[in-house]
Amino acid sequence: MEIKYIFDNAKDLENKKVILNGWIRNHRPQKEFGFIDFSDGTCFKHLQIVYDNTLSNFLDVSKLLVGSSISVEGTLVKSSGNQEYEVKAKSIAILDSCPDDYPIQAKRHTKEFLRENAYLRPRTNMFQAVFRVRSLAAQGIHKYFGDNGYIYFNAPIITASDCEGAGEMFQVTTLDLDKVAKSGKVDYSKDFFGKLTGLTVSGQLEAETYALAFSKVYTFGPTFRAENSNTKTHMAEFWMIEPEIAFCDLFGLMDIEEEMLKYVIKYVLDNAKDEIEFLDKFVENGLKAKLEKVVNSKFVRVTHEEVIKILKESNEKFEFTPEYGEDIAKEHEKYITEHFGGPVFIYNWPKDIKAFYMKQNDDGKTVGAVDLELPGVGELIGGSQREENYDKLVNRMKELGMNVDDMYWYVNLRKYGSSIHSGFGLGFERLVMYLTGMENIRDVIPYYRTPGNCEF
Ligand code: 4AD
Ligand code: MG
Repeated sequence: MEIKYIFDNAKDLENKKVILNGWIRNHRPQKEFGFIDFSDGTCFKHLQIVYDNTLSNFLDVSKLLVGSSISVEGTLVKSSGNQEYEVKAKSIAILDSCPDDYPIQAKRHTKEFLRENAYLRPRTNMFQAVFRVRSLAAQGIHKYFGDNGYIYFNAPIITASDCEGAGEMFQVTTLDLDKVAKSGKVDYSKDFFGKLTGLTVSGQLEAETYALAFSKVYTFGPTFRAENSNTKTHMAEFWMIEPEIAFCDLFGLMDIEEEMLKYVIKYVLDNAKDEIEFLDKFVENGLKAKLEKVVNSKFVRVTHEEVIKILKESNEKFEFTPEYGEDIAKEHEKYITEHFGGPVFIYNWPKDIKAFYMKQNDDGKTVGAVDLELPGVGELIGGSQREENYDKLVNRMKELGMNVDDMYWYVNLRKYGSSIHSGFGLGFERLVMYLTGMENIRDVIPYYRTPGNCEF
């Protein structure tokens, strides 16, 4: 029986026999009886097990330390203590007793310590909450897109196209690098795929091919970037959700982003009540109120030009001076989200700082791109309307020195029944940060990959 089942059916199970498998999270042995704080991870709450010296192995049980795995048979009874129910044990089988060098004790550990012990941190309350929220958020996202008629599309992980054109692809090769080094040259025609390939930085380009067949598709998969940045919001491996919608323009896209985000936040609020309450208390005070407020708010929409104007007029001492036509820095993102007190869409960005595929606006200077900025997280979503005009797209690619022939399948979409279409990419871990209040992206993915770190 799982603890979740017991809590969900406690009334019916009262005074009935229950059997449980799980771990000791805390233990208070007394002379003739003892209390075990017990968890099997099926729900956030723990169950208290009470035992006494009628157990045949009472002495062995009373010596058990935190982390031990046990199997309990007993009766579910109303508790006289802090909790509503507890289990009065009839027998406790010791599956594996845990020694005293077990790093996870029944006390508060620092997040840094737990990061170093990432293989054990899911056994703590904090990470039980974080990773249950992560799982629920993923399920909420699939549910949103499924309920709204999107096709779940799986983009390839190994690809030859660098979607963002930022040169941040991890290379995939079976060439013997020692031999290559000795010969002094690389012949990619001899490589596994007969050409230079890498791990995907975005499934967008492939998603576009399916959007122009199914109208609405989305990806949800791992994404890789050999970005040498050690920040609290960047990793070399992260998960991204990338919807792509035909016959949808930039403003329709913002509507979808806003609706989806509110849906997922509400889904988590409804399904992770205990976890959110815990995170609100121990990780980010006011988390629940923050999330509830966003669900009921209207997201602000401002152009990049307006943002620069606001920043310039703010009299704030920025490290980087905000300039028209230039990118905005982390400190600017922070100022803008605080200024508006919630999520902010920034749209119509200068074309020179954005990717080749974005819809060129009539002003000749900007593209139909939109980023969604969140307080405490910064950029959560990057998206755009795509350039659907063949000549404009090809000209832009040539301007940027791209090889148009290699990308024939992408540009041909603009030849064979082209239509306006738009899409976005949502960084899943940044969403989990926002949902849990965790401040470091390394604490919302099971095993993080950052420069110099590939432990576990
Ligand atoms: O803004 P980005 O680079 O956009 C794209 O890749 C588009 N092709 C998406 C699309 O239109 N289909 O990345 C999208 C989001 C960012 O807003 C951010 O949330 C997340 O992906 N992201 C990262 N998250 C963690 N670590 C990194 N290194 C990230 N780089 C981007
Ligand atoms: Mg971006």
